[in-house]
Amino acid sequence: MGILSIEDLSINFGGLVAVDHVSFEVKRGEILSIIGPNGSGKTTIFNLISGIYKPTTGKILFKDKLINGMKPHTVAFMGIARTFQNVRPFKQMTVLENVLVGHHPKVKSLFIDDLFHTSKQRKEEVMIREQAIKLLDLFHLKQYIDEKAENLPYGDQRRLEIVRALASEPEIMLLDEPAAGMNPQETEDLIRLIGQIKDLGITIVLVEHDMKVVMDISQRIIVLDYGKKIAEGVPEEIRKNERVIEAYLGKD
Ligand SMILES: Nc1ncnc2c1ncn2[C@@H]1O[C@H](COP(=O)(O)OP(=O)(O)OP(=O)(O)O)[C@@H](O)[C@H]1O
Ligand SMILES: [Mg+2]
Repeated sequence: MGILSIEDLSINFGGLVAVDHVSFEVKRGEILSIIGPNGSGKTTIFNLISGIYKPTTGKILFKDKLINGMKPHTVAFMGIARTFQNVRPFKQMTVLENVLVGHHPKVKSLFIDDLFHTSKQRKEEVMIREQAIKLLDLFHLKQYIDEKAENLPYGDQRRLEIVRALASEPEIMLLDEPAAGMNPQETEDLIRLIGQIKDLGITIVLVEHDMKVVMDISQRIIVLDYGKKIAEGVPEEIRKNERVIEAYLGKD
C-alpha cells in the first residue's frame, strides 16, 4: 500500500472527461512524475487530490484514509502540500514572511491565545520563525530573508514557492510544473532542491514538461493523454514507449 492511492478517479466538466478512470499509487519516499500533453488532466489530478475539485468517480486514499471531498485546508493539514502552476510568491511580502504564511496549516494556537497574546503563543511564534529561517538557509535563500519577494530572480521566486509549501511540514508534496520558465542554471538549482526534499524523507509527485528534469529525478513516471493513463514505468521504459511517443508527436 502506497502513501497515496488513486483508484478509478474521474471528473467531468460538462461533456468533457478531464480525468478518465485513472488509478495509480505513490510509494512513500519516491519521486513520481505525471507527464502528458497540454490539457491531458495533470493539474486536474492535483486539484482533485488537494480537495479543490470533487471526483465524479473513484477514491483518493492518503495513508489508507479516504480524503475525497475533504476541504483543501483539511487536506493540507493532514500533510499534503502543493505548489501551483504559474503562481509566484506574495510579491509585497518579504521572503521570510512568505515562508511564515506557509506554516499556517499546522499552527494550532487557540482563539483565547490570540486574544491575550499569551506567552505560549509568543514562544510558538519564535519557534516558527526559527524554523522558517532554517528552511531558508537549507535551500540557499537565507541571504534574501528581508528582501521583498518580487525583487528575487525568477528562479528563486519559484524555489521560494516550494520552500513555502515545505513550511507546512508535509509528508507529500505535489509540484505543478516547477521548472516552467526557468533557464538551464535555474533548472539545475531546482533539480538539486527537489533532491534535497526527497532526502528529507518527503514523497514528491511532480508534474513537469521539462523532460530533462523528469528523466533525471523520477523513480517512476505516469503518462496521461486525454485524461486517461496510457503508460506507467521507470524513465527508461517511458522514454521508448510507443504510445507515449505517439501522444507527444501527435500533438506538438
Ligand atoms: N474548472 C474547469 N472547468 C472546465 N474545464 C476544465 C476545468 N479545469 C480543467 N478543465 C479542462 O480539463 C482538461 C485538463 O486540464 P488540466 O489543466 O488538468 O491539463 P494539464 O494536463 O494540467 O495541462 P497543461 O500541461 O497545459 O498544464 C482541459 O481540457 C481543461 O480545459
Ligand atoms: Mg497543468
